[in-house]
Amino acid sequence: MVEQIERVKTYIQGFDDALQGGIPKGHVVLISGTAGSMKSSISFNILFQEAKAGKTGLYISLEQSYESLYKHILNMGLNLNLINIEHIDDLGRIGEVVNGTKASDKGTIIVADMGCIRKEIKDIRIGDNKSWLNVIKNIVKKIKAETHCENFVLDSLSALYTLSRFEDPRVELFYIFEFLRDMGLTTFLISEMPLDCSKYSEYEIEDFLSDGIIYVRLTPFRRNVVREISVVKMRATACNNDVYSLEFKNGQFQALYGGQNPLL
Ligand SMILES: Nc1ncnc2c1ncn2[C@@H]1O[C@H](COP(=O)(O)OP(=O)(O)OP(=O)(O)O)[C@@H](O)[C@H]1O
Ligand SMILES: [Mg+2]
Repeated sequence: MVEQIERVKTYIQGFDDALQGGIPKGHVVLISGTAGSMKSSISFNILFQEAKAGKTGLYISLEQSYESLYKHILNMGLNLNLINIEHIDDLGRIGEVVNGTKASDKGTIIVADMGCIRKEIKDIRIGDNKSWLNVIKNIVKKIKAETHCENFVLDSLSALYTLSRFEDPRVELFYIFEFLRDMGLTTFLISEMPLDCSKYSEYEIEDFLSDGIIYVRLTPFRRNVVREISVVKMRATACNNDVYSLEFKNGQFQALYGGQNPLL
C-alpha cells in the first residue's frame, strides 16, 4: 500500500483536488505571481485557516508593514477573532510572543514585519548584506524551537534580495533552501514575477530548489482582467496542471474549471 503523505491544504476550494488534497508537509513552495495577484492573501489565508484548526504559523513580511497587512486581511473579511495573532514588533519581545502563543487556547499566527528586523539590525550595528538573512533565520529557529509552529510564509523572496545582496546566488540559495528544509516547516516563499511573466523567480534556480511552484496571475480577457492559478510543479504529488480561474468571495478562495467562462 502507498504510504499516505500528510498534506497542508491551500484552502482554495476546488484547487486542493489538483494537488491530491494539498501540499506535502515540510515542502518548500514558491508562490509566484505578478503584482496584485493575491500572493500574500492566499498565503496568509492558509496560515489563518490552519490557525482556526489550532495550529501555529509564522508570517515574515519584508514588503508590507504589520498595519498594512492587518488592514488588508480585515478588508478581506477574515474574522481574526477566531485565532490568536501575535506581532513581533521588537525582537527583544520574542519571549512574550512565544508565551502568548503557548498561553492561547486558539491557533496562532505570529507576524514579524520589516520594522522589527530593521530595528534589530540597527541595534546590533552590523550593516553587512547578510544581516537581514541572519535575523530572519534566527526568528524562524527561535519560533520553531519554542512553539509548535508548522507553517512559515516569507513575503517575499524578492524583497529579501533587495535588502540582502547575494554575491553568489546559486550557492547562497542552496543553503537557504537547505536551512528551510532542515527546519521541517511547510514553507511558502512568495516570489514577485516580472510583468511579462518571463520567469517564476529572480535567479531561476529557486524553481529547481523548491519542492513546488504555484503560479498566480492577472490575465486580460477582453476588457476585463481575470485571476488565474495553476500548479507548475509539486514533488510527491500527481498534480493537475490545468489553469483555473481564481475567485475570492465571502471570505473564501475558489478555483473554477471546466466548461465555465472565465469569471468576469
Ligand atoms: N475582498 C477583497 N479584499 C481586499 N482585496 C481584495 C479583495 N478581493 C480582491 N482583492 C485584491 O487583492 C489584491 C491584493 O492582494 P495581495 O496583497 O494579496 O496581492 P499580492 O500579490 O501579494 O500583491 P503585491 O504584489 O502588492 O504584494 C488587490 O489588488 C485587491 O484588489
Ligand atoms: Mg504581497
